Amino acid sequence: MNPFQWPDNGAVSLICKRKWAETSTSVSVTLAPESGEPLCFDFIPGQFITLGIEIDGKMEYRAYSLSSIPNQTELQLTIKRVVDGKVSNYIVDSLEEGHVVSVLKPAGEFHIEQPHGERIVLLSAGCGITPVMSMAKTLLADDNDNTDIHFIHAATALDQVIYHQELLEMAASHERFHLDVMLEDAKGSHYLEGRLTQAALKQYCPDIADRSAFLCGPVGFMAAMQENLQALGMNMDYFYQESFTPAESEQPEVTQQGLADKAQALSQASVFVPTFDAQVEVKVGSVLIDALEAAKVPVIAACRSGICGSCKCKVTQGEYTRTSTATLTEEELEQGFVLACSCQIGSDVEVALN
Ligand code: FES
Repeated sequence: MNPFQWPDNGAVSLICKRKWAETSTSVSVTLAPESGEPLCFDFIPGQFITLGIEIDGKMEYRAYSLSSIPNQTELQLTIKRVVDGKVSNYIVDSLEEGHVVSVLKPAGEFHIEQPHGERIVLLSAGCGITPVMSMAKTLLADDNDNTDIHFIHAATALDQVIYHQELLEMAASHERFHLDVMLEDAKGSHYLEGRLTQAALKQYCPDIADRSAFLCGPVGFMAAMQENLQALGMNMDYFYQESFTPAESEQPEVTQQGLADKAQALSQASVFVPTFDAQVEVKVGSVLIDALEAAKVPVIAACRSGICGSCKCKVTQGEYTRTSTATLTEEELEQGFVLACSCQIGSDVEVALN
């Protein structure tokens, strides 16, 4: 079967083929080419795609991890309702089979090809299960792979465990797949009730400290799990995590000249994008994405947190600082590429989108 060709830049249109409820608060959808031609999607298990959906006349972009495995003719995502989650809640409530969405190619460094040992632990909570599910299914589908997988998932209640039946079937049919579930309210199940403390992790998986770990879930959960794994003695060189939430901002990296001083911080700078003949005046220190949006330049910003890479552009002239360089290569950094959502303007700048 022919592979699906992702463009290097820009989005493709895919059609929502199927949609079903996973739990009372989450849905799964699959995406395929509009043409109906069966083409295989390539990506590395654990990666995400950026989805663009028009809501109330405005394109909104968000990043979602893939839960399907590579080389299938449909991409699968699972999306959970979240408080004030404009795009997620729209997908849960209003996206229908047959609707067309924009999709940017798979990206991200949280994936199963990162160096790891022969024993791994996949740790997740809530909708954070999607990328680790893709990793587990891919490893189990490979007859030449011997990775021993301990899958530990936390959820609020039994009926909120996403992919529960599929996980039970994986555990029943693969000796090298071990499943544990921790519930906040374990009524009606044989699972343990409570939180994933160090003691619980050790009880579920006595050799957890000797494993490589892949972690995904809400920010608080991930911080607690990282602390637990560190305290249990895990080698953190083999610890990987995914988050679409901003990290604590770090000291900006000065890329060209010194940071604007206090007096300069109050002064104005112009942002010029020749391709669109767009120009806007902003305060020095403003974030580039805000300036580009104010100038009506069609830039995509899916996470606004310096993680997904969708807002990549190039500063061809002028001074700036960067607080995130995720997804940018050394070469791109040297050439002046920035993530607009994580780039502060230091003087008049000229910008190219690609
Ligand atoms: S919007 Fe995701 S990196 Fe900027």
